[in-house]
Amino acid sequence: MSIQQEKIKELVERRAGARMGGGQKRIDAQHAKGKLTARERLQLLLDEGSFEEFDMFVQHRCTNFGMEKQHFDGDGVVTGSGTIDGRLVYVFAQDFTVSGGSLSKTMSEKICKVMDMALKNGAPCIGLNDSGGARIQEGIDALAGYGEIFERNILSSGVVPQISGIFGPCAGGAVYSPALTDFTLMVKNTSYMFLTGPAVVKSVTGEEVDQESLGGASVHASKSGVAHFAADTEEEGIATIKQLLSYLPQNNMEEAPVVPTADPVSRVDDVLNDIIPDNPNKPYDMYYIINSIVDDGKFFEVHSQFARNIIVGFAHMNGRSVGVVANQPKVLAGVLDINASRKASRFVRFCDAFNIPLVTLVDVPGFLCGTQQEYGAIITNGAKLLYAYGEATVPKVTVTLRKSYGGAHIVMSCKQLRGDLNYAWPSSQIAVMGADGAVNVLYSKEIKAVEDPAEQKRIAAEKKQEYEDLFSNPYQAAQKGYIDDVIEPRNTRFRVIRALEQLAGKKQTVPAKKHDNLPL
Ligand code: HXC
Repeated sequence: MSIQQEKIKELVERRAGARMGGGQKRIDAQHAKGKLTARERLQLLLDEGSFEEFDMFVQHRCTNFGMEKQHFDGDGVVTGSGTIDGRLVYVFAQDFTVSGGSLSKTMSEKICKVMDMALKNGAPCIGLNDSGGARIQEGIDALAGYGEIFERNILSSGVVPQISGIFGPCAGGAVYSPALTDFTLMVKNTSYMFLTGPAVVKSVTGEEVDQESLGGASVHASKSGVAHFAADTEEEGIATIKQLLSYLPQNNMEEAPVVPTADPVSRVDDVLNDIIPDNPNKPYDMYYIINSIVDDGKFFEVHSQFARNIIVGFAHMNGRSVGVVANQPKVLAGVLDINASRKASRFVRFCDAFNIPLVTLVDVPGFLCGTQQEYGAIITNGAKLLYAYGEATVPKVTVTLRKSYGGAHIVMSCKQLRGDLNYAWPSSQIAVMGADGAVNVLYSKEIKAVEDPAEQKRIAAEKKQEYEDLFSNPYQAAQKGYIDDVIEPRNTRFRVIRALEQLAGKKQTVPAKKHDNLPL
């Protein structure tokens, strides 16, 4: 064998060694927990044969606690580039088989390298997390590594999409990298995120809680909103990440890919002409309307289990990506509360950052009242949504279906917040508040002054009728140009698409500033 051939053999062997991560025993242990390895995950995520690995031979430099005797090529993370549906992405996948995927300084350097490449080349960065946190033996070096990653998360924010998959532990300060990214996906029963685990919680607060109830996928997807998606299996989680990417552009200077559709633009849906119940307090299902107007009835929901009184997600309309925001009358009557405001505002800001037009479907009775909401700062949180819509410069098309009351009317992408085309169904009611509330405020003294209860009822009904005649229709708003047209519900798909096409070349700016100071 020539010297060159010997060297090639060594390369092949070293590569094979690196691909084994922490060794077969630890790989088996990972499988026994129902988890895939970092490499298996990347194989599922990336197009076949597209993975270009970086830093396969990187080793940690720690010499504390006998670490100089434990070296694994590649250390605890697999990094590189690849394609998903032919589009470039940068990836890192923490390898739990090497020191529990714990973050060493060199590992952070590997992660930072792909993050820098993603930013420089304008491609999404996807991180698959499965780690015991900071590598304890490295002390402050590991913490510094996290700091380096966080700074890159921040600099990349709004420039390239950043997606975090949580496929195992993600605890302590490590949770802040996913929190800084645009979307976080967790896998049920095998992943968890928390600042401190159950043992620390018990010693500090006395509270007894297990890992899953403290920071499992279901908790974060439904209660805290930290996770946008909760998958049943790793395979489903990876498929979800790929699907999400299909709606997104590569970076903030590009448009999302156009997906040709056979669904006719002019398709009408007669069911929509009958969907609004006669009783204004009766709910209907907003999902029906969304599915009816988007291409092929395909709606990719984000945060489906969190703050279900508002619906957000992606769809295509005549092949173009749109972000849909819609109140859900079936949950809490579609009222805006703290969580709904937080959920929708972050989504609106994401869409605006990445050139994805917004389609807003409104049926909102107002903001939720009460001490719980006030103490939790519904004022500041509601202002986030107001701010997000008001600053957004992407095309904004709004359709009011039924109620649009008070502050919530203004917040939900009204004309004055630079809404581009605002339509209303004939069933819409655009007013300061509902008729009962208004009559109570305006006429309660007058009504109480009358002694006969029957007469009281008659006056209240008369005033309510007067109010409804004036406001329980879209024509007052239409007369003043606050909405651009009253449309027949069955034509909504066609009208929204025509509006979006008209707005495709929209250019709008905000005054020059260092950055805004949105009400965080
Ligand atoms: C070094 C670690 C490690 C860590 C795990 N390992 N966590 N090595 N630093 N943080 C190693 C283990 O020694 C073991 O090595 C292997 O990884 C697998 O770990 P196990 O404990 O055997 O696995 P499991 O039973 O599945 O438990 C996983 C675990 C547990 C729950 C993650 O390992 C654990 O509690 N680790 C410590 C978590 C932690 O407190 N991290 C610090 C958080 S604070 P061998 O050689 O046996 O395979 C933090 C600050 C970040 O991260 C700050 C950012 C600003």
